[in-house]
Amino acid sequence: MIQHRTLWAVSDLHVAAPGNRDIVDELVQPAHPRDWLIVAGDVAERVSTVLKNLAILAKRFEQVIWVPGNHELFCSSQDLHRGRDRYRELVRGCREIDVLTPEDRYPVFGDHTVVPMFTLYDHSWRDPSLTVSEALSAAEGNGVMFTDQVAIAPYVDVPGWCRDRLAYTVRRLSRISGPTVLVNHWPLVREMTDNLDLPEIALWSGTQDTQDWPVRFRASTVVYGHLHIPVVRDIDGVTHAEVSLGYPREHERSLPPRRTRHLWPFPVLTEVLP
Ligand SMILES: [Fe+2]
Repeated sequence: MIQHRTLWAVSDLHVAAPGNRDIVDELVQPAHPRDWLIVAGDVAERVSTVLKNLAILAKRFEQVIWVPGNHELFCSSQDLHRGRDRYRELVRGCREIDVLTPEDRYPVFGDHTVVPMFTLYDHSWRDPSLTVSEALSAAEGNGVMFTDQVAIAPYVDVPGWCRDRLAYTVRRLSRISGPTVLVNHWPLVREMTDNLDLPEIALWSGTQDTQDWPVRFRASTVVYGHLHIPVVRDIDGVTHAEVSLGYPREHERSLPPRRTRHLWPFPVLTEVLP
């Protein structure tokens, strides 16, 4: 009998939301003991909760690959580790449980290099006639204000951090060859924000600097989350898969059709085993 293993992907598990932990327990399970799992950010807000849940998944799957979402970076002034330090704390914790992060070697699944990335956003997905501060004020005027503004922005210059992350990531991407799977919490191309109910959300959802990365770095699939709008879309020959679970009111509707079509967890790649 031919055996194969699968690289699965999920994001936005938001395990602190009622019922989400149970869904993860029931549905995020390997089909083969050698299956891998991508967790593309927004597991939870507390470091201990994030690491506890990643550790459970790391016991189930041969390899777990995690990238941070904005919720993992939420801090208050009481926290010891804030801003960039918060991210370092998460990476340290992941190393203790053998979960790969954007700071580790890029693992290879079949013939694909799997690239966990952390690129943030820089408010460049905005109306080009507005400056960043005008765009943020206009969004606030329309009643759109991301929690990031009070839980991340006070502790780190996000656009500056985004610039550093882009430079770090592009340097590493330039050194690999062959097909890739790019993994990021935020979408890499602007098209994925085309149909937002509130277009202002794009301000906190990515950066124009990654627009050509999927083609340039030979991605067969880009795995992302953040928007809580599950979709699988082909753009310039690259599959862009939004693999979020989301909040209960969202997955009540979005999960059953995806389960029927075997799209959640999302099967990114399969490999026939010898
Ligand atoms: Fe997010």
